[in-house]
Amino acid sequence: MNATQEQLKDKLKQALGEAFGDEYADTDPMLVPASNPKFGDYQANMALSLAKKLGQKPRDIAHLVVDRLDISDMCETPEIAGPGFINLRLTPSYLETQLNSIQTDARLGVPISSHPQREIVDFSSPNIAKEMHVGHLRSTIIGDAIARVLEFRGHDVLRLNHVGDWGTQFGMLISYLREVSPAALTTANALDIGDLVNFYKQAKKRFDEDADFQETARQEVVRLQAGAEDTIHAWKLLCEQSRLEFQVIYDLLDIKVEERGESFYNPLLPAVVDDLEKAGLLEENQGAKVVFLEGFKNREGEPLPLIVQKSDGGYNYATTDLAALRYRIKEDKAKRLIYVTDAGQANHFAGVFQVANRANWIPEDVEIVHVPFGLVLGEDGKKLKTRAGDTVRLRDLLDEAVARAHEDLESRLNEVEARAETEEFIANVAKVVGISAVKYADLSQNRTGNYKFSFDKMLALKGNTAPYMLYAYARTQSISRKGNINYEKLGENVKIILKEDAEFTLAKHLLQLDEVITEVEQELLPNRLCEYLYQLSEKFNQFFENCPVLKSEEPMRTSRLALCDLTARTLKLGLSLLGIGVLERM
Ligand code: ARG
Repeated sequence: MNATQEQLKDKLKQALGEAFGDEYADTDPMLVPASNPKFGDYQANMALSLAKKLGQKPRDIAHLVVDRLDISDMCETPEIAGPGFINLRLTPSYLETQLNSIQTDARLGVPISSHPQREIVDFSSPNIAKEMHVGHLRSTIIGDAIARVLEFRGHDVLRLNHVGDWGTQFGMLISYLREVSPAALTTANALDIGDLVNFYKQAKKRFDEDADFQETARQEVVRLQAGAEDTIHAWKLLCEQSRLEFQVIYDLLDIKVEERGESFYNPLLPAVVDDLEKAGLLEENQGAKVVFLEGFKNREGEPLPLIVQKSDGGYNYATTDLAALRYRIKEDKAKRLIYVTDAGQANHFAGVFQVANRANWIPEDVEIVHVPFGLVLGEDGKKLKTRAGDTVRLRDLLDEAVARAHEDLESRLNEVEARAETEEFIANVAKVVGISAVKYADLSQNRTGNYKFSFDKMLALKGNTAPYMLYAYARTQSISRKGNINYEKLGENVKIILKEDAEFTLAKHLLQLDEVITEVEQELLPNRLCEYLYQLSEKFNQFFENCPVLKSEEPMRTSRLALCDLTARTLKLGLSLLGIGVLERM
């Protein structure tokens, strides 16, 4: 709900109180945006639901309210429609005043949150020595966008990379490293094992084929747990190598995230189990220590256990998440914990959150949310694979997006003879367009569903795509170039005047940014912001087709230039919150 809607709601409540007595001053006026611009901007629907209680006809109720409604500074005279809907239409002068005020506001009318708080976004979180796959790409892109929106609203955001850097697989990896690259273990910076993912595969093969090797690997795990110096050294080398590989992706995507991997919580694991024991939640199940979950049953209808200590004494993914959750509440003092992972982990998090709740580890003022997302599918509707059937390497995927954007641009340049651009310009546009296209294609989907990955669709110049939005932005900049206008120098006292329908439509949309941002902040659905920006681009294009800018007379010329500038700044800000940069020309 935006400020305008908030104000109208208050005024309606006031009128309700005056019409029917104080006890009605808190009735929800059921104010919603009008479904059709024909009916105005908003509609209040409470008359129908009050009819029974008041024993009066809805239309009469609507009349009584409207007679007492004091909104002449905001709206035209309200109309009562059908059985008793109250239609409200904002006046041009109200809209103009609002626009002029956001025009001079660097935050474009989006206030800082009135309750800034510490929030943790746990995102990206790949696993050491394993492939960073498209699931991690989704987590990275969505988590980053969420963090950016929260930061913009003034929250103190901790971006955490819960890297899988601990666990029994390291026994296998380190033992294998000792075999194939013994020098790495004694010399500083001497890890030369090539592609780590390949290394993992080979180690796994060795592990699966040789029982003696399995025993060696198990002992290595014990040494790692005990903190043996050379084992820790090898572990660090592997983590460091992985980190370098992940960083390539983060740099390409312009992602900032603080690494705090699973190993960080290792010293805190025994206390998790002890405290669950003390809370009376722990049970023994086939030698393992578990908490039986309420409301989760297996196929046989038996309650499902959340294992927190395996029969061999080892801890697992859930134990670490319980420790992390406690640490984030107690030490980081976070008021909201947000976990961005694929929907496949929904049960894991539901289990962890339930156990933490039952153990009383979650204070009332702390909110914990899993932000799930669906799978990335190929154009055939199956899980995304390369043509050869392998998992797609993220690096290759991003490179291909940029390469395709490069090709598209060159062929467009060839169509226009007069357009010669430097190689540097082309490379930069291709990079921004390619990376933005991948990010935007992901963010613009309702994240809970699966989505089909299609280079052709995401790079299209028309439709709900990054290039479409980047074009709208570039158009605003080409207008100012053509007219030799410096938007920044339009001046503080430019007056926006609304005349044509297309101007009103654009203006009203520009005024809704604050509403959309607060919605994303609460519901953690970046696709709402994408939808908003897409509509903004469309409305701007319609405005541009219908309303001459540079060719109109003053004062409309300056007013329209100000609308172009406001659109440009809104697009730029909105896209930046999605982690997408803009281009002055493309
Ligand atoms: N490393 C995990 C994976 O690749 C994701 C971790 C998500 N965060 C968490 N706190 N469990 O699936």
